[in-house]
Amino acid sequence: MKPDMRGETVLEVRDLHTHFFLRRGVVKAVDGVSFSLRRGEVLGLVGESGCGKSLTALSLMRLLPKGGAQTIKGEVLLNGENILKRTPAEMREIRGRRISMVLQDPQTSLNPVFSIGDQLREAIERRKRAPNVEVMKEAVAALRRVDIAAPEQRIGQYPHQLSGGMKQRVVGAIAISGEPGVLIADEPTTALDVTIQLQYLKLLKRLQAETGMAILFITHDFGVVGRMCDRVAVMYAGRIVECGPVRQIFEAPQHPYTRALIASVPKMTGPVGRLTTIEGQPPSLMDLPVGCRFASRCPLVEQRCLDAYPAEVRVGDAHTADCWKVTPA
Ligand SMILES: Nc1ncnc2c1ncn2[C@@H]1O[C@H](COP(=O)(O)OP(=O)(O)O)[C@@H](O)[C@H]1O
Ligand SMILES: [Mg+2]
Repeated sequence: MKPDMRGETVLEVRDLHTHFFLRRGVVKAVDGVSFSLRRGEVLGLVGESGCGKSLTALSLMRLLPKGGAQTIKGEVLLNGENILKRTPAEMREIRGRRISMVLQDPQTSLNPVFSIGDQLREAIERRKRAPNVEVMKEAVAALRRVDIAAPEQRIGQYPHQLSGGMKQRVVGAIAISGEPGVLIADEPTTALDVTIQLQYLKLLKRLQAETGMAILFITHDFGVVGRMCDRVAVMYAGRIVECGPVRQIFEAPQHPYTRALIASVPKMTGPVGRLTTIEGQPPSLMDLPVGCRFASRCPLVEQRCLDAYPAEVRVGDAHTADCWKVTPA
């Protein structure tokens, strides 16, 4: 990618709220999330399971699960245009071409009764009309691009004939076939074993460098963040509590939650298996406290943390944290 292509903001999320309206109450799964993503950049979205990462992604794609989920507030600006205002038909045009997603489990993304070639063909034909030979050529090229050997043979195979890693590559090939400016990868390697995970992360990095797409990389694993991301947003109980360049966050995490998360990453050196877990549980998203949401687990808690939610503090260059105890830059 040319250096001058980097830097322009492709996605900006402002004060996004997605809640589940259930009979027993309102689950505030995404509750005031803001971040932006530049061309050619990988932003990590990291946090414990259940903190709202997937719901954030699904809100951006406008693919909320049925059963009460609604985006009730906020803006999702894709190249400056708020896609929350687009009709479902317009969204079908936007998905795949301008913003695309790879899910954790390739099983749910691939249809078991159609061949790999058919599924790629469908993705390609949604974008353009072309003679069948052309489409099949493009499908083969798409598989080659994600390092699938002998793509001419693979194309006739069905999902069950492929390994987990290979399936996830096919899902990746489909997701990027429309050359989207933004790719959301929601824990794309969680279902894969460790060596295959590393290969897949490398592949994503390479594709990103080739195409200049921006990636929102979702993970619960801070270890993977260091490998993949330029910046990281740390999410806790429906909100981003700290955001900044990966190096700064690793070297000087500011929010006590970020510190606890980093401390819980198993070290490459030293005794194996010394995994610190964070004590306590996150608050119920149905009954959130008025103050800081981490207060009940925070070693530094004070009265003011319980009384009011802390304002976002600028703690460094492009680095912010929501905490009463941090020192402004
Ligand atoms: N179908 C659902 N019905 C009700 N609440 C849900 C549903 N799916 C998710 N939630 C709520 O939204 C929260 C965030 O979920 P999710 O975004 O999937 O978390 P993450 O991806 O960070 O693990 C969950 O903790 C849960 O409380
Ligand atoms: Mg998730």
